[in-house]
Amino acid sequence: SSTGTPAPSVSIKVNSPNVRYTETSIESDYYYDKTVVSLDSNGTYNAEPTKVHYQFRTRTNVGKVGLMLVGWGGNNGTTITASVLANKHHITWNTRKGVQEPNYFGSVMLSSTVKLGVDENSNGVFVPFKDLVPMANPNDIVFGGWDISGLKLGDAMNRAQVFPYDFQRQVYDQMQEFQPLPSIYYPDFIAANQGERADNVLPGTKQDHLEKIRKDIRDFKTSNGLDKVVVLWTANTERFSSIIEGVNDTSANLLKSISESHEEVSPSTIFAVASILEGSPFINGSPQNTLVPGVIELAETHKSFIGGDDFKTGQTKIKSVLTEFLVNAGIKPIAITSYNHLGNNDGYNLSAPAQFRSKEISKSNVVDDMVEANNILYKKGEHPDHTIVIKYVPSVGDSKRALDEYVSEIFMGGLSTISIYNTCEDSLLASPLILDLFMVAELMSRVEFRCAPNDSVNINEVKYEPFHSVLSILSYMLKAPVVPPNAPVVNALAKQRAAMENIMRAFIGLPSSNDMMLEHSAF
Ligand code: NAI
Repeated sequence: SSTGTPAPSVSIKVNSPNVRYTETSIESDYYYDKTVVSLDSNGTYNAEPTKVHYQFRTRTNVGKVGLMLVGWGGNNGTTITASVLANKHHITWNTRKGVQEPNYFGSVMLSSTVKLGVDENSNGVFVPFKDLVPMANPNDIVFGGWDISGLKLGDAMNRAQVFPYDFQRQVYDQMQEFQPLPSIYYPDFIAANQGERADNVLPGTKQDHLEKIRKDIRDFKTSNGLDKVVVLWTANTERFSSIIEGVNDTSANLLKSISESHEEVSPSTIFAVASILEGSPFINGSPQNTLVPGVIELAETHKSFIGGDDFKTGQTKIKSVLTEFLVNAGIKPIAITSYNHLGNNDGYNLSAPAQFRSKEISKSNVVDDMVEANNILYKKGEHPDHTIVIKYVPSVGDSKRALDEYVSEIFMGGLSTISIYNTCEDSLLASPLILDLFMVAELMSRVEFRCAPNDSVNINEVKYEPFHSVLSILSYMLKAPVVPPNAPVVNALAKQRAAMENIMRAFIGLPSSNDMMLEHSAF
């Protein structure tokens, strides 16, 4: 039933004993190469290649899916909803340069390709990322959500000032049909200045709020005949919650704290808990620590999916590329200084210290893994200076500015300074990531796997399990990826993308992609 973009789908069939297509699923065998390293008493690293046998089972029927946005009436919420409408109905609009067509640029799933393999002449064959494995079509998403501001979405889109008038004009009526549900407002968690728009808030206790949000998810599902609902927080950045023993450290304590309306339970944590209890994947697109230990434990118990934190868009995305490049080139960044100014409501909210602090934290850790992996450039514990400044400048609106200076130590004590100035419509960068997060999370809810850790285990006797509740596969889209307890965080963008691609290749029984190009190496 979809019209318009995304790019037309290609169909892919893998001819291999490693893959079986059934009526309802794709089943694959995958041999995961792992090099196990130990240091012996002579100080030699002993590296031992091993293969671990995995089987994946991916249900192919996506079903009818809904996406509920918390903060639906904000810049990202209205931008993504209007953009999907425009793509679905192929709405074009006039600009001073001519007619603009809708598209899904900026979505890695919808607008980037992966190399499936090579043709008979050894030339690469590229396919849309979204077609590696059956995925939801964004044009079929049923949108819903909540906002503490009760404006209907047409008016909220106009308030956001992201789109030009000729676009707003054409989607306005359809957008006006959407009205955000009342939401949870605890003034202490977001900037005081947001009180101005909070006219759509739920009365009652924290327990009442949890039950109401659960009911909203259930009602949305039944009234739209949905198979599945994904919930995504794109509401204001909240302050961090303190992690307190007995309050939010375990799932039982967290549920008890909600029943007692404990002050450290944030609105976003209540949304996460409600989603988990309803079996809906929950993704946190903002920097605060919504996914407190009690939430992670609850998700694990319910085998429900969670992901976070904070959309990775402009400055941090570049940082996770540039720092990897520098460090992997053997160059030593010694100071990374990042300034931002923006004039949208996100900037207004971040002008308060506690909310800025959340953003500062989520932006700060992005170079850690690269620095820690190179003990030639950095001594243990040594770290580049890393400073983050954000200022609210109303007149620039949604057109965010990011100024970055990277100072690095090069050969023989020399210095290199790279200065970057980036200006970009903030919400047009972030909104396509909502679709990527949605599509990948939805996919992961259809995948199960099992593994034979060694040869003495018969894989056919192992039970299929879903992936771990914390979806680290979403890291590419997130500034401060939350990963399963004790798992390492990978921030480097190329690695995150390769992980996502190779995991999906494994689902269809293909080996990991690589760029060795051996087919071109012989005469
Ligand atoms: P926005 O301020 O335009 O929208 C947020 C919306 O959330 C507002 O409509 C507000 O009324 C609503 N809201 C606040 N508390 C709520 C609650 N408890 N329940 C329901 N609704 C609530 O902000 P924008 O630009 O859409 O960004 C949303 C979030 O995404 C922010 O936290 C921001 O830091 C984060 N983000 C945005 C990026 C971007 O490039 N736009 C990049 C990375 C993260």
